[in-house]
Amino acid sequence: MEDEVTLTIPMHHDMELEVTRIAASVAEAMRLDKDKIDEIKLALIEACLNAIEHSKSEEKKVHIKFKMIGDRLEIIIKDYGVGFDPSKIKEPKIEEKIKSPSKRGWGLKIMRSLMDSVVINSHKGGTKIVMTKRR
Ligand SMILES: Nc1ncnc2c1ncn2[C@@H]1O[C@H](COP(=O)(O)OP(=O)(O)OP(=O)(O)O)[C@@H](O)[C@H]1O
Ligand SMILES: [Mg+2]
Repeated sequence: MEDEVTLTIPMHHDMELEVTRIAASVAEAMRLDKDKIDEIKLALIEACLNAIEHSKSEEKKVHIKFKMIGDRLEIIIKDYGVGFDPSKIKEPKIEEKIKSPSKRGWGLKIMRSLMDSVVINSHKGGTKIVMTKRR
């Protein structure tokens, strides 16, 4: 069976938390266990925060789609902002971060470590992230 839920949120503070409630409902309906649901929620917050903080989207919206494909949950997070080149983002290293004045740059790594797969598609017109989790 295949089903989907779509939603668009304004880039207002705390809206990313609302998204995690819907994510949890969808994942529960698919019978994913609690740990996996928590991982999905965290990865999703990071993706939404990135869109909100970095995209400079003029419409100021984040578009989210949950696709339930058998035992696989696919989540697509999209913004129509400035985009970025993921290959130019240096992977954070804790030993270096401790010494550095900038402690940030963990979001993408967190997403990749929590989800089964994360695919980033980004260009000048915006960013699309497809992340999946299996039951
Ligand atoms: N949706 C997006 N639009 C534009 N740039 C993005 C987007 N998502 C990520 N980026 C770019 O990728 C960089 C790395 O993102 P990442 O989430 O790993 O770190 P961060 O957001 O800078 O810090 P942290 O997530 O630790 O608070 C960002 O600093 C930004 O330059
Ligand atoms: Mg981030």
